[in-house]
Amino acid sequence: MANAGELLQRIASQQHQLQARGLWRQRQLTEPVVGSVRRVQRNGQQFIDFAGNDYLGLATHPQVITAQQQALQRYGCGSTASPLVSGYSNAHAQLEQQLCELSGHEAALLLPSGFAGNSALLKTLFTASDTVIADKLIHASMIDALRDRQVKLQRFAHNDLAHAEQLLIKTPRSALVTESVFSMDGDSAPLTELAALCQRCNSPLIVDDAHGFLLSDSLQVKPFARLVTFGKALGGQGAAILGSQQLIDYLVANAREYIYSTALAPAACAGVSQALQLAADGYLQQQLSQNIAYFRQACAAQGIALMPSNSAIQPLVLGDSERVMQVAARLARRGFLVGAIRPPTVPAGKGRLRLTLSAAHQPQQLLALATALAECCDDA
Ligand SMILES: Cc1ncc(COP(=O)(O)O)c(C=O)c1O
Repeated sequence: MANAGELLQRIASQQHQLQARGLWRQRQLTEPVVGSVRRVQRNGQQFIDFAGNDYLGLATHPQVITAQQQALQRYGCGSTASPLVSGYSNAHAQLEQQLCELSGHEAALLLPSGFAGNSALLKTLFTASDTVIADKLIHASMIDALRDRQVKLQRFAHNDLAHAEQLLIKTPRSALVTESVFSMDGDSAPLTELAALCQRCNSPLIVDDAHGFLLSDSLQVKPFARLVTFGKALGGQGAAILGSQQLIDYLVANAREYIYSTALAPAACAGVSQALQLAADGYLQQQLSQNIAYFRQACAAQGIALMPSNSAIQPLVLGDSERVMQVAARLARRGFLVGAIRPPTVPAGKGRLRLTLSAAHQPQQLLALATALAECCDDA
């Protein structure tokens, strides 16, 4: 029990501790520079953006913007209610259908964010009598959901198939949870092998495909359930759970995050629908792959040791938080905005720059970042 004064004291003491450890987090106003290529502005300064997750450059695509504008005219700004009351529109149904056609899953359920999606899925499916086996690096949203439900959580070493198998053999028929592309490391799970393992052990496989959907071969496996997010490659907002009709019907009727929350805005759905169409022919993905290869080459030429990653997420581990912040600040002074990732998001001593690439980056921007990295890491 704590009264208001005691609560404020607790807050102040925790703030002080985090500040002393260099782990205090704050927001900064950031906006795209209209008409520019991957430029954002913050405090009156312009940066090339290597921090956002708009991997295909769709967040500012004119056709996506137009589709959302038209949907705003038709549906208004918000869905105005829970999907089970009156918040479920044709825009939602169409997007669900599109996602099913693309992924081969039978049914889909839309939520306002990936965090809510993981929460809805895992909290509705599992209870304290279940064991879930999960990769060591799964996202906070999944860990929190499993912890909230007091599910017995067993973690296998990151991407370690043999360890996963060992745990599954000990607790057969437990669900196995992984990401497709890992958000902080940028590497990929051995999905085909994990799917085969789950099949052998009669275990449901659950894949958080937030960073792999449309960008990797993650759709080649058909898990029991898949979470896709719209805030990354699709440049929008929201998420979907994909699975069998039976699973989705069950979630519609039982997931508290779905039932007791205003449905995703119809205009957001329309924007995502258009973005999906633009991503369908693979052209943007090709541009992104070229950019990834080009950037990795440029970094290698400068002696910059990026983590092994074929994805849009290119981490550079620097160690302690202070050094991460120092290098990020130096890069900012040169006009590059990068993600500075510190514990507890990553393990202690593994602080890193999270450099995110987009199909929309131009080669000279990638080259300039590689050169700046070499200079900034050298004198940090
Ligand atoms: C792996 C993973 N899953 C889920 C989420 C949550 O998605 P959203 O940003 O839509 O809440 C994120 C976002 O950071 C993520 O990286």
